[in-house]
Amino acid sequence: MSVLSGKNVLLGVTAGIAAYKTAFLVRLFIKAGAHVQVVMTPASKDFVTPLTLSTLSKNPVHSKFYDKEDENEQWNSHVDLGLWADLMIIAPATANTMAKMADGTCDNLLMATYLSAKSKIYFAPAMDLDMYKHATTNQNIKKLQSFGNVFIPPASGELASGLIGEGRMAEPEEIISFIENDILSNLPLKGKKVLITAGPTYEAIDPVRFIGNHSSGKMGFALAEQAVQLGAEVILIAGPSNEKINNSTIKRVDVVSAEEMYIATHQFFKTADIAIFAAAVADYTPVTTATQKMKKKDTSLNIELKPTKDILASVGQIKEDQFLVGFALETNNELENAKDKLKRKNLDLIVLNSLQDKGAGFKTNTNKITLIDKNENITTFELKSKVEVAQDIFNEIKTKLNV
Ligand code: CTP
Repeated sequence: MSVLSGKNVLLGVTAGIAAYKTAFLVRLFIKAGAHVQVVMTPASKDFVTPLTLSTLSKNPVHSKFYDKEDENEQWNSHVDLGLWADLMIIAPATANTMAKMADGTCDNLLMATYLSAKSKIYFAPAMDLDMYKHATTNQNIKKLQSFGNVFIPPASGELASGLIGEGRMAEPEEIISFIENDILSNLPLKGKKVLITAGPTYEAIDPVRFIGNHSSGKMGFALAEQAVQLGAEVILIAGPSNEKINNSTIKRVDVVSAEEMYIATHQFFKTADIAIFAAAVADYTPVTTATQKMKKKDTSLNIELKPTKDILASVGQIKEDQFLVGFALETNNELENAKDKLKRKNLDLIVLNSLQDKGAGFKTNTNKITLIDKNENITTFELKSKVEVAQDIFNEIKTKLNV
């Protein structure tokens, strides 16, 4: 899955012959799963039609603040467009537009949007070789970079003028992979390994029966997806769960019992930077597992249970620099119990779920959490989707790790 998936991309098109390539660029952004809106300078419409770009982007194309002729036309808010964008790209960026960007000239909707955009801005110049070589163009590119805009270098080759040299806009495929690589290399958890345990464990009584719990794995899976979005390498150790992972880069290790989860966790823990224990591990397991299906009898049945290994406590004992996060599901005396677990298991952070809260805990798509850190700082959150809760947990981890 592309890092562009789900991102709001604002494409600014200016008047260069390379504008025709933006049709392909829009298609590639859409194919990568991005949402695209296009802003065109008035002159760029001579090179590619708004109809083409609106059809491909599945959105109306903006080029004027409003259309005087059309009574139903609404004011196009450059501020709204700028706020909507997760990233903005100006391609092709002509010498004229770059000069305006460099000195803040605001004479069309694209320039107004550029000046009000809060997101990262990429620009892909396209012009003839002598214009590209000109000292002012050079100076403007440097100035734009010094403002934090990201320069996507043009390629060398045959130009529309017939001349051969530098100035040809980077190909749409190159622009896409340039932006993807740039996003990836700037992600906060880039280079970090995140280990997550999720779901229940099943403790076998005989070949067909087990002791388990109602955990769905939803919270742990949402955490894994969020970690990968933030650039981390993710190992998800999952007990039996119907949840699916969407991102193929997540390394999923399926386990059944607490003992299997213990072994898998220890296999990966040493090299992890962050470990989050969202699994609802069975606290007890049968002393013996019958090899044949147990037959029904008229007398009562006693199954002797022994405690499982506490996986989280065991890694708490050997942890070095790992940032360790545990979960506590409580029904009463919640804060005190969670604080006690935090200390006992040597954690950096504990996520408290109270079963007193409606919509929190197992099986639901929502959760309501309280975070408690090592210094007993407490942060309480509203009821949210588990995806949003995963974001809140990682925001806290990022703050603590200063990334
Ligand atoms: N945990 C674990 N291994 C176990 C039991 C729990 O790794 N055998 C982890 C869970 O994934 C969770 C945290 O420990 O992150 C808290 O689990 P919980 O069962 O609530 O803690 P206990 O210490 O077993 O306390 P309680 O008396 O509430 O059951």
